[in-house]
Amino acid sequence: MKKQRIISIISILVAFVLISSSTALADSYMLPSLSEIYKDHFHIGTAVSVASWAPKTLFSHGDIIKRQFNSLTAENAMKPDYLQPRPGVFNFREPGNLIRFAEDNDMVVRGHTLVWHGQTPDWFFRDKSGNRIDEKAVVTEEDRQLVIDRMEAHIEGVMTHFGDIVYCWDVVNEAVTDDAAHIHRQDSPWVRSVGEDFIKIAFRKAHEVNPNAKLFYNDYNAVAPYKRGRIVSMLKDMINDGVPIHGMGIQGHWSVNGPSISEIEDALKMYADLGLEIHITELDVGLDGATEEQQAERYREIFQLFKKYDHVITSVTLWGVADDASWRGDEDPLLFNRNHEPKPAFWAIVDTDKPWYVNKAECNGAVMFKNNAGENLGTLVPGEYALDSLDFKLEEAAGLEVIKGHLVTFYELEDLQGDAWHFISTDEFNGADLANKAKSFTIQYVDAANIALNKSVEANVRQDRAHRAVDGDNVSSWSPSDEPPYWVTVDLEEPYLLNRWVVKLQGTGPLAGGIAESPLNAADFKLMISEDGVNWLDADTVEGNTASVCDRDLNLVTARYVRLYVTRPTSLDINKNLVVYEFEVYGMPLE
Ligand code: XIL
Repeated sequence: MKKQRIISIISILVAFVLISSSTALADSYMLPSLSEIYKDHFHIGTAVSVASWAPKTLFSHGDIIKRQFNSLTAENAMKPDYLQPRPGVFNFREPGNLIRFAEDNDMVVRGHTLVWHGQTPDWFFRDKSGNRIDEKAVVTEEDRQLVIDRMEAHIEGVMTHFGDIVYCWDVVNEAVTDDAAHIHRQDSPWVRSVGEDFIKIAFRKAHEVNPNAKLFYNDYNAVAPYKRGRIVSMLKDMINDGVPIHGMGIQGHWSVNGPSISEIEDALKMYADLGLEIHITELDVGLDGATEEQQAERYREIFQLFKKYDHVITSVTLWGVADDASWRGDEDPLLFNRNHEPKPAFWAIVDTDKPWYVNKAECNGAVMFKNNAGENLGTLVPGEYALDSLDFKLEEAAGLEVIKGHLVTFYELEDLQGDAWHFISTDEFNGADLANKAKSFTIQYVDAANIALNKSVEANVRQDRAHRAVDGDNVSSWSPSDEPPYWVTVDLEEPYLLNRWVVKLQGTGPLAGGIAESPLNAADFKLMISEDGVNWLDADTVEGNTASVCDRDLNLVTARYVRLYVTRPTSLDINKNLVVYEFEVYGMPLE
């Protein structure tokens, strides 16, 4: 034990030296690299704009792109209107820049997109007299053939030019309709001038031009139950017909509120069952009124799922780099903010097994020591430290800024022995006093485990079901409906230093459908604490709540017993039903 501690102190000191040599922690080159982190799972890509009318993110966001991604998609510059604005006149200049950038930086390139109803010049669909073929009541065989020839010539010209440098193509984009009565989008000029088999013709041509290229069908709302079944029918028909198709592209223009993880997972299974590879081609997760922290949690869950399916998912592309150049700019859907700084969402996918702020703390530091002018004396990552190894003067420290979920503990003796003093963020830190009386300290994440889980409980109402509030199962609840107050007490079995508590109320459950807000969530309640189960103190009080999840930081209190005490079970005066799916408490044992 002791030896281990010494070793870990040494390794932490190394980390400390690295960290302290730079306080410019937000520099993107210091950040962990997503392409590195995900290298054994899938390519991690971004869409970049290079077209002259778009913000040229390849240059303005180049540093982030180089460090974070190993796959590129042209956001617009490989679409038909860009590549072939006039019949037979191909324009490869801007995508050429993209290809060079990819080659210089060891990245692969996804091709997007050959055949689409959007961003495709009008001339594709005009007959020799200039009339729109797709608007005619009767399309002649000659008209139809003309459009097929143009489509095939476009595929041939583009794929021949790029060759194997573009390793996969979204051959056809968005051909399935949102209208439940049909499979194919009926108003597509391709359907109207060629018929629904334009898709098969396009894939066959693409395969003929470059048999090495992986060919994808790409669509939006591709995980939504109303649409995915019809996409699968179309793909099955193609596969049965021997059409060369290798993959399904799921665009992924999602939001914090949907689609659900189970919807995404069901769709992944459906496409994988067809024997297709899956690319997530255009991921962005709009805020939709939520906070950046909620967005981070959503990105974390999504990437956790993608990793689970990394045997079929071979590429995940974000549709842009930073919110300042997103096509959904008002929804801030990307991993970097308008100042090109990493958002909580970035940190969340650095390690999907931990909350975003823990990943951030491990890289950028969990504790900042400040002097009495509020200046940063030093920033430390979680670990164990000897006081005499610090390269700043602890005596000068007058404040601590501690990242959520973390705790700083100073010890009287070396190797974390003797009396201990605990801290979270404070403006009243007496560095001089600690420099005098302490020799070592730790910075640790103490939020990892719910210490109330499966501990013994006592309740004033529905005692028989009270254990359901601490069973770790978000489907079973303790639901008293009598005369408030209602309380449930948990015996933590030993004294703990507590820093956070969480209550998951009516709205989180399967009956309410996992909603964020509801008047049926407990309105007034508090956390009470006790050393002996007899004398109680109020540790934190909540009033007028409507949120389904109440997640609160605590100002470091010690307790062996905790009690959830509810005085107003809902914000509707006539309703006395309380539903608690889970009551959680976080902290660390006091030795
Ligand atoms: C978008 C681009 O991001 C915008 O810059 C452009 O104005 C419109 O197209 N589905 C697709 C992408 O397949 O090509 C679209 O890209 C977004 C929706």
